[in-house]
Amino acid sequence: MNPAPPPSAATAVPATHSLRWHSETDTQAFAARLAQALGLHGGDAFIALHGDLGAGKTTLVRHLLRALGVSGRIKSPTYAVVESYDLPGFAAWHLDFYRFNNAQEFEDAGLREIFASPGLKLAEWPEKAAPHLPVADWDVFLLSTGDASRTVHVHIGSARGEQLWTAGTEP
Ligand SMILES: Nc1ncnc2c1ncn2[C@@H]1O[C@H](COP(=O)(O)OP(=O)(O)OP(=O)(O)O)[C@@H](O)[C@H]1O
Ligand SMILES: [Mg+2]
Repeated sequence: MNPAPPPSAATAVPATHSLRWHSETDTQAFAARLAQALGLHGGDAFIALHGDLGAGKTTLVRHLLRALGVSGRIKSPTYAVVESYDLPGFAAWHLDFYRFNNAQEFEDAGLREIFASPGLKLAEWPEKAAPHLPVADWDVFLLSTGDASRTVHVHIGSARGEQLWTAGTEP
């Protein structure tokens, strides 16, 4: 029997990538690359967005959904908990758990079905619904470092998340 190959840089899943966005233009450019990568992977992903009020979670989602082809109004789901989108090729859900209260709400809003379905799930304030959520492909941490600048950490949580990162950052 052959021994297992030693872990190498090519096979190890890096834990976290750090980025700096100097302005919303950088946020938009990141969203455009992510949209392209998602298109290559059929849109299947769960991306959890962490950060304080005003960190830029909804802004990133808006740029991403626009880049994926949404032309109408993109409402923040702060009150509705979820907004859904029919994109060319796949479904997407934008969730915001800020006002989330209990497990029953998760059932009532059909959120279990959403997370069991193929498509793109983008969730703000995931820590407020943590016990109900699967492991994210990406955990994105946004930190405001000025009016328009953001420090961003992207934690890769799965092999699919790693593929998405590679697809989005390769030239
Ligand atoms: N580089 C940037 N990336 C994202 N947003 C930025 C950036 N620079 C400035 N902003 C501004 O910061 C604000 C971010 O607000 P946004 O609603 O996206 O925050 P949020 O993280 O979703 O907050 P909440 O937790 O209240 O939902 C927007 O007004 C946006 O225009
Ligand atoms: Mg928001």
